Amino acid sequence: MSVGPIESLSRYHLLGQSGLRVSPLALGTMSFGTDFGWGMPEERAHSLLARYLEAGGNFIDTADGYTAGSSERIIGDYFARQGGRERSVIATKFTANASPGDPNAGGNGRKNIYRALEASLRRLKTDYVDLYWVHLWDGLTPVEEVMQTLTTLVREGKVRYLGLSDVPAWYFARAQTLAERHGWERVVALQLEYSLAERNIEREHIPAALSMGAAITPWSPLAGGLLTGKYTRQGNQPKGEGRAHALLQAVPLVAEKFLKDRPWALLDEVLAVAREVGRTPAQVALNWVATRPGVGSTLVGASSLTQLEDNLHALDFTLPAELSARLEKASRPELLHPYVFFESPFFTRGMVAGNTHVTAEPAWFRGPLQAP
Ligand SMILES: NC(=O)c1ccc[n+]([C@@H]2O[C@H](COP(=O)([O-])OP(=O)(O)OC[C@H]3O[C@@H](n4cnc5c(N)ncnc54)[C@H](OP(=O)(O)O)[C@@H]3O)[C@@H](O)[C@H]2O)c1
Repeated sequence: MSVGPIESLSRYHLLGQSGLRVSPLALGTMSFGTDFGWGMPEERAHSLLARYLEAGGNFIDTADGYTAGSSERIIGDYFARQGGRERSVIATKFTANASPGDPNAGGNGRKNIYRALEASLRRLKTDYVDLYWVHLWDGLTPVEEVMQTLTTLVREGKVRYLGLSDVPAWYFARAQTLAERHGWERVVALQLEYSLAERNIEREHIPAALSMGAAITPWSPLAGGLLTGKYTRQGNQPKGEGRAHALLQAVPLVAEKFLKDRPWALLDEVLAVAREVGRTPAQVALNWVATRPGVGSTLVGASSLTQLEDNLHALDFTLPAELSARLEKASRPELLHPYVFFESPFFTRGMVAGNTHVTAEPAWFRGPLQAP
């Protein structure tokens, strides 16, 4: 097993329009603990944490809802024993209901935010969180209440920066605009599913993030393991062992998405590109997403030290433009209304530009959907 620093990990990025410096690969800890029926015991989780930090990583992502609080507890125990909390950027999330039958013990209302933060701080054994995420839009709480409460937490010194995970783009735009107007704390990052197998956020979220100063932190960048090549298709079933297999069995919606033809053709392209550059498919898939416009730090999941080592070297190389374009083409999302207008030369060059050439569009104007 490798030891020592990985140079590419300590080429830090500022997270959105903030002064927070984070590694381009963050350590995802959703699998720390065994309470969900998969995941890993504390000892292995601590060895992953130790290797990530030793390699030069500084950005750790957890949530109060992961493994029923075990993920936060395992991270808290690690830093309590080993030290180094101050050097790390610890991000956690709230929204998950902690007490069935109690509507105020979940969601994004003020009462739950305070309850959730106090519980997270206890489990993490720290007195502040570096980045506090709304885990999921609750569809209920007024956005003003969420943003004002989070702003107060920053001013009380319990939280350093704010982020939104799994929210509609319009909700982020409204939250950010209100924050700017009222002098509240701004949103510095959006956490959303993003990978070669899931590019829907390119339509709205990435252009919104680029234009309003937030960084994208992709989750499930390997589509739960699918993009590593460890699954093959057998009839209408994926074949292969691992966490994603359990997920595919348990969540019909996920299975339906992956069993369509396109992801398997995409996988063939990922495997071919990996062979051409002499890298693993996981490294190719991570490299591609981590270098897309708007991406600040990519959340890396791993269930063993070997997988982690593989993933942490994903930014040690540059994917040649021609190969990157091949992956882009194989994974390009379907063009839907109204985005079809923004991609069509008939409208952009003809109707808008009067058949002149208008170049140097800001990246956010049409988003990164357009082929290079
Ligand atoms: N905000 C949200 O709603 C949300 C949702 C999901 C995740 N997240 C965050 O994002 C992080 C990453 O998500 P994820 O775990 O789904 O990411 P992922 O990278 O898409 O999937 C990780 C899984 O892929 C497999 N894998 C990883 N590296 C591999 C390699 N080099 N070779 C072979 N297989 C490999 C492992 O599966 P096996 O265990 O089967 O070997 C591993 O558990 C989470 O830990 C969490 O912090 C956030």
